[in-house]
Amino acid sequence: MAEPVVFFHYTLRCKRAQYHSPEGGHGRAYLHFTGDAVEIVDFEIDPGHRRLGHGQRFMQEVLRHAAKYGCKRATLHVSPDNVPAWKLYTKMGFSPHEEENHLELELKEVHPGED
Ligand SMILES: CC(C)(COP(=O)(O)OP(=O)(O)OC[C@H]1O[C@@H](n2cnc3c(N)ncnc32)[C@H](O)[C@@H]1OP(=O)(O)O)[C@@H](O)C(=O)NCCC(=O)NCCS
Repeated sequence: MAEPVVFFHYTLRCKRAQYHSPEGGHGRAYLHFTGDAVEIVDFEIDPGHRRLGHGQRFMQEVLRHAAKYGCKRATLHVSPDNVPAWKLYTKMGFSPHEEENHLELELKEVHPGED
């Protein structure tokens, strides 16, 4: 698979992430930064391009970006009934938090030169 490109740009209240794969997979998400955490909202890959690994690659880039900007943890809300999303997030290391439908992941530091 050719390398996808992920753009990050500021909107008024948050950062928007856009994923573009040369093969045609597109995705998007919003990142809300609060303190040392990033909340990932409306994460999605376009229908017709799912189950090809784009979601996993996109999330990896989002998490790297958040770690690079100093975030120590990532959070998101998802119902266990949303099987594709729940499985993707838990596969990537997110684990349920005490709040219902809330998943969290501790972020590893991104060292200079890794990016
Ligand atoms: C959730 C979503 C982003 C996954 O994107 P994707 O590109 O299809 O995910 P990937 O191909 O990278 O899959 C990675 C892993 O997620 C899990 N997964 C993804 N889709 C799945 C499905 N339909 N059923 C079961 N597991 C699934 C699997 O564990 C998969 O790993 P595997 O292929 O080795 O089994 C996509 O389904 C989507 O956009 N859904 C609609 C929007 C949405 O509900 N977003 C979540 C908001 S909280």
